[in-house]
Amino acid sequence: MTSKLQGKVALVSGSRRGIGRAIALKLASEGARVVVNDMDEAPAREVAREIEQAGGQAVVCAGSVTEPDFGERFVATALDAFQGLDIIVNNAGYTWDSVIQKMTDEQWYAMMDVHLTAPFRILRAAQPVIRDLSRQEQAEGRPVVRKVVNISSVAGLFGNAGQSNYAAAKAGIVGLTQTLAKEWGRLNVTVNCVAYGLIKTRLTVADTGEATASIDGRDIRIGINPGLLDTLERTIPLGRGGTPEDAAGAVYLFCIPESDYVSGQTLMCTGGLTGV
Ligand SMILES: NC(=O)c1ccc[n+]([C@@H]2O[C@H](COP(=O)([O-])OP(=O)(O)OC[C@H]3O[C@@H](n4cnc5c(N)ncnc54)[C@H](O)[C@@H]3O)[C@@H](O)[C@H]2O)c1
Repeated sequence: MTSKLQGKVALVSGSRRGIGRAIALKLASEGARVVVNDMDEAPAREVAREIEQAGGQAVVCAGSVTEPDFGERFVATALDAFQGLDIIVNNAGYTWDSVIQKMTDEQWYAMMDVHLTAPFRILRAAQPVIRDLSRQEQAEGRPVVRKVVNISSVAGLFGNAGQSNYAAAKAGIVGLTQTLAKEWGRLNVTVNCVAYGLIKTRLTVADTGEATASIDGRDIRIGINPGLLDTLERTIPLGRGGTPEDAAGAVYLFCIPESDYVSGQTLMCTGGLTGV
């Protein structure tokens, strides 16, 4: 294990697969102790085991981030298991697309709940803990910089047809990020955002049929038409969609000490796309 994040305690929501899993593994490989979360316990345990087998430390806090008490449970898991809280990555999420005239209230609120309300509640639950730790550290003359990384999307920055719910929520998380960067600066917390373009996960697999996944208790259509996927990839300056590991790298940049004076920012991790 290398040591950029040695001894840090990290919460990573939605980390049983895809980008969240890659983030959990990356942070752990740099020495962080990780609280793995996802809706189901068993697959989350697999990721925790993977971390342990590589010599790291991890525990699981299973459950949907949309549960009203989830934020408190997530924070308490970190404190109980590792007696600390240094990094929070709000990653859990999915898409549930429709053009606006076909979008139901359920679709709209599902995206607000998972992409915006859940991070809000997690961060609200973390505040008293971070405040007390920060006050103590500052009084003892050994200030510690903590890190929040929220996950957004180019849909939230530029819009995307068929995703008014998702785009609005992903734009909202940018506002939450900028506001908390101002509220938490005095607590020595940097709060930043990573906005992804096309990252190859189950959300963006090539699919011609009617593939669905059971997400947060609902069967949600996933995948992108292969033709569209091909066109999308060809518009990316680096010529390919990103891997989950590429995506995790951008989050990692905000977690290391070299970014301790960077806050309130949104980093686009898009293979060079600067607008869509
Ligand atoms: N893949 C992309 O191209 C892309 C682009 C922009 C933004 N994003 C964002 O990146 C994040 C990760 O997406 P991904 O592509 O890795 O998707 P993914 O489906 O591979 O992984 C998402 C994980 O989040 C979990 N999750 C979903 N709802 C949850 C809930 N309520 N509680 C707990 N866990 C929950 C899922 O079970 C899954 O394990 C999401 O916020 C997504 O919106 C992805």
